[in-house]
This record gives sequence, structure tokens and C-alpha cells, in this order.
Amino acid sequence: MREDRPLLLEVEHLCKWFPQKQSIVEMLQKKEIRQLKAVNDVSFQLYKGENLGLVGESGCGKSTLARTILRLYEPTSGTVRLNGQDISHLRGEALRRLRPQMQMIFQDPYSSLNPRMSVYDTIAEMLKVHKVVSDHEIPARVEQLLMMSGLSMDIAQRFPGEFSGGQRQRIGIARALSLNPAFIVADEPVSALDVSIQAQIINLLAQLQRELDLTVLFISHDLRVVRHITHRVMVMYLGSNVEVGPTEEIFARPAHPYTQVLTKAAPKLDPLNRQRDYAIEGEPPSPINTPPGCKFHPRCPFCTDTCRTQVPELREISPGHLCACHKPLIV
Ligand SMILES: Nc1ncnc2c1ncn2[C@@H]1O[C@H](COP(=O)(O)OP(=O)(O)OP(=O)(O)O)[C@@H](O)[C@H]1O
Ligand SMILES: [Mg+2]
Repeated sequence: MREDRPLLLEVEHLCKWFPQKQSIVEMLQKKEIRQLKAVNDVSFQLYKGENLGLVGESGCGKSTLARTILRLYEPTSGTVRLNGQDISHLRGEALRRLRPQMQMIFQDPYSSLNPRMSVYDTIAEMLKVHKVVSDHEIPARVEQLLMMSGLSMDIAQRFPGEFSGGQRQRIGIARALSLNPAFIVADEPVSALDVSIQAQIINLLAQLQRELDLTVLFISHDLRVVRHITHRVMVMYLGSNVEVGPTEEIFARPAHPYTQVLTKAAPKLDPLNRQRDYAIEGEPPSPINTPPGCKFHPRCPFCTDTCRTQVPELREISPGHLCACHKPLIV
């Protein structure tokens, strides 16, 4: 638990809805525009130096939540505060000044690295544009960042296309760290890598998080990794967070029926028997047409009449452990 630490990020009732295209007939009939509620009423806090895991089935809104917090998307409603400052609707110069404070480590860093720029220039340019250090300090800082990421200056003049996936991810990490960001999102940082390389990158991220006291939102399908490196875990279902709590408690005593199936369906330890995704019965309903009441009720074995009609609030069920369920399973 990191709640004795200062608050870094406060997210309140955040929504990101994507309006759906209408057919001409629908337009002529003046039908209401349907909304895909990718993120719907999410509230949580992140403390300085904390690694918060974000989990949930494919399409539940993890990346959209991260992108909305990073202000790559404008929120539909709700608030995001970074160090007390409301950043939800910043624009222009104020938004540009915010950018360096929040960095993202991507699933495939290749798509975000300029293939015509050497590793040295990629990082040096970040330092220069954002005036992180004075010009004469740039070479030493580039070397330090490469070393921290497990690379050396020997590769500095080479180009992204010359590297393996693992090395490219190390370059992506060095670049993300170059601006001393207050907050880092790692969105599936190893899922595109060979299994043999994944552990190295995960260990590097965990080590940097500890040593630099980084604040991280760590998105992953791999619950073993989440259990291994995060302090707290947040579970999302159909755009909303249904459970948040200390990592060990979430895995040992999941309170939401969805978290319970999710953690039970976690891939086996045998690396040859790994599943890419969680195996849960039934399809999640569409985020365009969500069920009334608790959105998990059509798949929930414990569903009651209340669950079919009333939306459960996210409430504290034990210190620091929050759950949005009318009948949480407290073991
Ligand atoms: N730019 C967009 N425009 C319209 N719909 C979008 C957009 N981005 C995401 N969506 C939709 O929002 C929902 C949530 O998508 P998102 O990518 O956030 O899920 P995710 O949890 O990150 O999934 P995955 O685990 O597969 O990465 C999905 O239904 C997706 O189709
Ligand atoms: Mg995603």
C-alpha cells in the first residue's frame, strides 16, 4: 500500500464515449446517436511511486482509459488531476507543456520510433526539444539512459530497424524515461515479444520502477506478471472499474465475481500452456448496448433481481479494497 505517499493522479467519474456512425435512414429518422461507452464512470487514485496494474478482457477499455488520462483523447466527461492540476480539458500550449510529464511505453515501440533516426538522435532530440538538460550534458545523459535500459553507447549510432524486439523495447523505455516523467503508462509492453525475452523486459521495468520510484499504470493480460510487479490492481469490465485493491488481496481474496473468474482463468505457469487471453464463459455484452443494472449480471452466477436493475456503486469493503457489487464475495 502506498497511500501514505502523496497523491499523483486523481481520476473522477471519467467517461470516454465514441459516437457511432449513423446510416442515412437513421439520420432521416432523427434517431439518437448511439455511443460506444469505452470508459464509463471510472474513479481511482494513483500514489507517487506506485505501480498499479490494470486488467480485464480485451475491449473492456484499458487502452482508452490510459489514452484519456494521457490526454491523447479528450474526456467526454469527468476529471483527471495530475499533481492537483485539472488536466481534463487543457488545450494548445498548456497541453503541450503537459505532454513530457506523462509518457507511454507501447506494445510495439517500433511504430513509435522514427526508422530514419539513430538511437542517439532519437533520445538526444527529446532532451533538446524539451530542454531537459543543457546541450553539453546531452551525450552523458543519453549514455546514462541507455545504460539504465540495459543498452550501451556502442549501439547509439544504429537505427531502430537493426534491433530485435527486446532491444527496441529497451530503446522505447530509455526514450520514455528521458524526460523524467511524473507518470508512465506501459500498455502491454511485452506481449509482442518472444516469451524468452518477456521476463528480461518485465524485470527491467520492475527494477527501474523501484530504483527511480516511478509511478506506473501497467496494463497487461498476463496476470502472473501483474501479480509479480504491481502494488495494487484495478479490474475493468465493459468500461467501468469493478474492483481495486492491494495486489495480493485481489489475487487471494477477489471480491467481485468477475475478478474471481478472471483470476481463476489466469494462464498456467507452464510456459507451453500459456493462453493469450482469459477464458471466461460467455461473450462480454457490447459496450454500445450495455445491460441495465450491474453490467456483469448476464454472466454472473450470483445474479439477483437487484443486480438486474440497480447499478452497484464502487465502495470500500475492507481498507483500500473497493468493489462494485451488490453481493461481494468476501472470503
Ligand atoms: N478511437 C476509437 N474509436 C471508436 N471506438 C474505439 C476507439 N478506440 C477504442 N474503441 C472501442 O472502445 C472499446 C475499448 O477498446 P480498448 O482498446 O480501450 O480496449 P482494451 O481493454 O485496451 O482491449 P485490448 O486488451 O484488446 O487492448 C472497444 O469496443 C473498442 O472497439
Ligand atoms: Mg488495449
